[in-house]
Amino acid sequence: MAIDNAVTSEGSALVHSLDETGELASKLLPLMRQAGSVSLEGPLGAGKTHFVKAVASLLGVSEPVSSPTFTLLHSYSGGECPLHHSDWYRLESEEEVLGLGLEEYLDDGFMMIEWGDKFSQILPPGTLRIRITHQSDNSRLINWAVKS
Ligand SMILES: Nc1ncnc2c1ncn2[C@@H]1O[C@H](COP(=O)(O)OP(=O)(O)OP(=O)(O)O)[C@@H](O)[C@H]1O
Ligand SMILES: [Mg+2]
Repeated sequence: MAIDNAVTSEGSALVHSLDETGELASKLLPLMRQAGSVSLEGPLGAGKTHFVKAVASLLGVSEPVSSPTFTLLHSYSGGECPLHHSDWYRLESEEEVLGLGLEEYLDDGFMMIEWGDKFSQILPPGTLRIRITHQSDNSRLINWAVKS
């Protein structure tokens, strides 16, 4: 895996397998903890949910993680801190997002949002934005940066 500056607030890595995506999640964990919220971006099937699964496993969540596309928010306890997993794919307006009342969860553990770029203006400042793009088969380019 080629990682440039994995511990700085901006960088990119080319991963070649599911396991390497998990390794990158582990390297980015300190940044994600510092941010408190993470936006996962990239096209359908890029690997956003897989990334959340990797983080859940790092936090020690034993419950299976599934995509909250229809329920909009899943919370997992049982790890070292609560993990809240939201998916904005089906949401159509900022008002709908605000209606989820996510701010109350932000103070209580760790928030990961798939498709956060749909409403990037309302992502909390300091959110770590992670963009995953397909390269070939199991390879993905993963870029990250902190929202100012
Ligand atoms: N290096 C990789 N990292 C992540 N996923 C990978 C990788 N290589 C292959 N995959 C596969 O890509 C798919 C990613 O699916 P996943 O549900 O995580 O995508 P998603 O971005 O959440 O899609 P959606 O927009 O529908 O929510 C899985 O089938 C996974 O096995
Ligand atoms: Mg998904």
